[in-house]
Amino acid sequence: EKLKIIGISGSFRKGSTNTGLLRAAVEIVEKDFSDVSLEIVEISNLPFVNTDLEVNGTYPESVTEFRAKVLSADGILFACPEYNYSVTGVLKNAVDWASRPPNVWGDKGAAIISSGGGNGGSRSSYHLRQTGVYIDLHFINKPEMFVKAFEPPQKFDQDGNLIDQKSKEYLKEVVKALRAWIIRLKR
Ligand code: FNR
Repeated sequence: EKLKIIGISGSFRKGSTNTGLLRAAVEIVEKDFSDVSLEIVEISNLPFVNTDLEVNGTYPESVTEFRAKVLSADGILFACPEYNYSVTGVLKNAVDWASRPPNVWGDKGAAIISSGGGNGGSRSSYHLRQTGVYIDLHFINKPEMFVKAFEPPQKFDQDGNLIDQKSKEYLKEVVKALRAWIIRLKR
């Protein structure tokens, strides 16, 4: 059976460069990693976290579905945009839902890629790492991928598709490292 990685993007907009990074990662996996599957998982349908929505230990349907996808994954690839130096609210919301008992992130391998302004989203990615401490996500340290989306050369087209060859090669190294890390964790 293939190693199962799920991709989660912290931006909902159609032309999202972060979701574009995930789509590029899917292409890379399909082309170069025959023992890995990568599925982009939707989080835009999740309600805002509110423990009033937890009835007798059950969750809203969309939350239950999302939690099941996280639980069944061997590893997580986060595409983590930066809003005001931190993780976007929508991504944090998804992280928080899947942390509710029982925490379904526990002991999984993960990696972060991000696309943003001058620092390429590095500050949000470090905030996500900090959250990972509590929920027992184990991030690869390197390679770190922070794409400066708005500086030349142009790296994305208008729809947020990654068109920069160098970035694609770098992204492949991230996938490679995450794959190796997941295999190590499963041993
Ligand atoms: C931003 N942006 C941004 N960029 C950055 O590098 N550091 C930041 O702190 C912020 N802050 C911020 C706040 C808010 C509310 C918005 C809407 C945007 C810009 C951001 O990086 C840019 O919109 C990216 O394009 C977001 O990623 P997607 O949507 O392309 O995936």
